Amino acid sequence: MNESLTQNVTEAFSRCADARTKEIVTALVRHLHAFAREVNLTHDEWRQGIDFLTATGKKCDGIRQEFILLSDTLGLSIVLDDINQHHDDAATESSLLGPFYRDGVKESAFGANIAQSDGEPVFFHGTVSDTNGRPVADALIEVWQTAPNGMYEGQDPDQPEGNLRGRFRTNANGAYAFHSIKPTSYPIPTDGPVGRLLVATGRHPMRPAHIHFRIDAPGYESLTTALYSSDDPYVNSDAVFGVKPSLVVEYAPKEGGYEVARDFTLIAKARA
Ligand code: BEZ
Ligand code: FE
Repeated sequence: MNESLTQNVTEAFSRCADARTKEIVTALVRHLHAFAREVNLTHDEWRQGIDFLTATGKKCDGIRQEFILLSDTLGLSIVLDDINQHHDDAATESSLLGPFYRDGVKESAFGANIAQSDGEPVFFHGTVSDTNGRPVADALIEVWQTAPNGMYEGQDPDQPEGNLRGRFRTNANGAYAFHSIKPTSYPIPTDGPVGRLLVATGRHPMRPAHIHFRIDAPGYESLTTALYSSDDPYVNSDAVFGVKPSLVVEYAPKEGGYEVARDFTLIAKARA
């Protein structure tokens, strides 16, 4: 094995003026070389790898981003989430934003219903507070989830505009409340090279039922997270590894539907 090959290549980047770019590119070279050596990669296998990456690029357009899906299914997105999230045990953990977030949803009144589809009714409620237990008033809470057919509004022309998307403010006590329906599990898009990779490697494409939350308040770190249904068959095998035990919730039966009581804790921004 000729170790000097890797050294020669990293040295070729030694005049890179930007220290961070140099660090990232040289680490990438070291790990790529180590990877190829570890698996004794053949020319034919790397050709297949190049064909796969080419097909992944060709599947991308203004709406579809197959490389993000690749990052998600390889667990790289959730590793980045782990690297970049706070590690304060008192605060709510983050989870993946996913590709279906939409800005510009109309704000709804406290307790409004975001569902225009039939489904099992759920009352979601709780508080937003800081890590000292102080309520955060007027926090912006954005939520989005799939309809019972497993599709988000935006993927499905048959759903009314804004279906199952909500934008709320916490009240003076930091409380939020809204009505919706129980989310369902759904497959990530499988009609591209990432879907073929999952099939070829014996993996399913399902995300367990969840509802996304994004919470923003002045003076606090933004929180992007999701609540996962404890009774979902895929809760322990999420195709994109977004589930964290602290984000798994029970849907408690209540008056012909369910109730989810869930509080969120934000981290105050460090003062400059
Ligand atoms: C989502 O939860 O919306 C999602 C996340 C990653 C890939 C596909 C979908
Ligand atoms: Fe989702």
